[in-house]
Amino acid sequence: ELCKGINGLDKIILREVRGSSAEVYLFGGQVTSWKNDHGEELLFLSSKAVFKPPKPIRGGIPICFPQFGSHGTLEQHGFARNKFWSIDTDPPPFPTNSSSKVFIDLILKPSDEDFKLWPHSYEFRLRVALGPGGDLMLTSRIRNTSTDGKPFTFTFAYHTYLSVSDISEVRVEGLETIDYLDNLRERERSTEQGDAITFEGEVDKVYVSTPTKIAILDHEKKRTFVLRKDGLPDAVVWNPWDRKAKAIPDLGDEDYKHMLCVEAAAVEKPITLKPGEEWKGRQELSAVPSSYCSGQ
Ligand code: BG6
Repeated sequence: ELCKGINGLDKIILREVRGSSAEVYLFGGQVTSWKNDHGEELLFLSSKAVFKPPKPIRGGIPICFPQFGSHGTLEQHGFARNKFWSIDTDPPPFPTNSSSKVFIDLILKPSDEDFKLWPHSYEFRLRVALGPGGDLMLTSRIRNTSTDGKPFTFTFAYHTYLSVSDISEVRVEGLETIDYLDNLRERERSTEQGDAITFEGEVDKVYVSTPTKIAILDHEKKRTFVLRKDGLPDAVVWNPWDRKAKAIPDLGDEDYKHMLCVEAAAVEKPITLKPGEEWKGRQELSAVPSSYCSGQ
């Protein structure tokens, strides 16, 4: 269902028969809402989010491509999150063994302007799908479509803002003992200690070569998010905390308490595609009552 969102921007609403839903803006190819079958919002959207292109939308799941962060020649997190994507009205079907029927395919290709910034021909196909249990599945396929024989290299992240009731009560499992690059210390490499990750201040880390499953436990809401990823070896964890939050104009001063970014990513080892080659990166999110997760 294509309709008008905030400021008249086009958005697509996906609805699964059991009641879960997701919203995707063509601007940024960005998921801004994901609700479970009780209508509860599972993604964080800033109370001060501005929907004014080309400013990226603060919240949901911005796509960082072709550059994650500020390491590189492009603007922070690349340009995909501030471009208008188009809908593929005749997308390739899902594999027959897949249970998911509710999906949309968005396409990003470089305009002449983009080409000046990053002189590479590509087609980026982003599939946003809802599973029967309300799972939110994002699949990116990026193909080098150049005819000049030139490879290109990129880094990538699904910059996922999860909605949490109180950041001080959140635990992340699956990243303990994993090496990380600390963005707050010029990407210095360290190893995570301890049982599970908890939050008491600003965090901005790229965990490298992580397990494919990460759990985010929200005790107050009695909810666990499970993030599964494929083709994306790394995982970014970010919370700006109070001081940094105040310096971000489109983030409310108290918003940091109710958000946590956990992002399937490819950062440490950039991906290179030769002409004709395609890369695929998937992130699957599910949200389950915590009691169902114990012992898993
Ligand atoms: C995180 C980065 O993924 O995104 C942080 O690790 C950055 O360093 C944050 O501050 C937000 O970036 P932006 O450009 O959306 O304000």
